[in-house]
Amino acid sequence: MADFQLSAEGVEFVKAELKRYETPLSAVIPCLYRVQKENQGWVSPESVSYLSQLMDIPEAHINEVLSFYTMFNREPVGRHHVQVCCNISCAMNGARELTHHLCKSFDVKEGEVSKDGKLTITRVECLGSCGTAPMMQINDRYYENLSPDSAVKIIKELE
Ligand code: FES
Repeated sequence: MADFQLSAEGVEFVKAELKRYETPLSAVIPCLYRVQKENQGWVSPESVSYLSQLMDIPEAHINEVLSFYTMFNREPVGRHHVQVCCNISCAMNGARELTHHLCKSFDVKEGEVSKDGKLTITRVECLGSCGTAPMMQINDRYYENLSPDSAVKIIKELE
């Protein structure tokens, strides 16, 4: 049996999602979201095994979905996952330089967890807020029209 288990509410969520769709495969994305939420922001191999048993879907199918979509983290992340959009509009407005600036300011390498466990900074593709570039997503919130100073300030204010 896997080390990971969803909460009772999480199990109910998965059961409800399985009933919602014609095929259980369609429920994989929302269920992976739930797992990620209950597993400190990432989907571990153990949690995939667990979900596979709970949903009665082969692990290989879940892993296919997991590896295709970038919104699922396959490595541990900090309490605050800073995702800087580096697609065209944001890149043209300094997003790559912003990413470097943030990594340097908080002494963390891209994609790694900071020593205090607070932060992970990654680059992502378009987050759909191109008109307010550059922008970043931190956990479930968007921050737009950023400057290097404003982005650092926002992150410093996080607990
Ligand atoms: S290019 Fe950054 S939000 Fe679209």
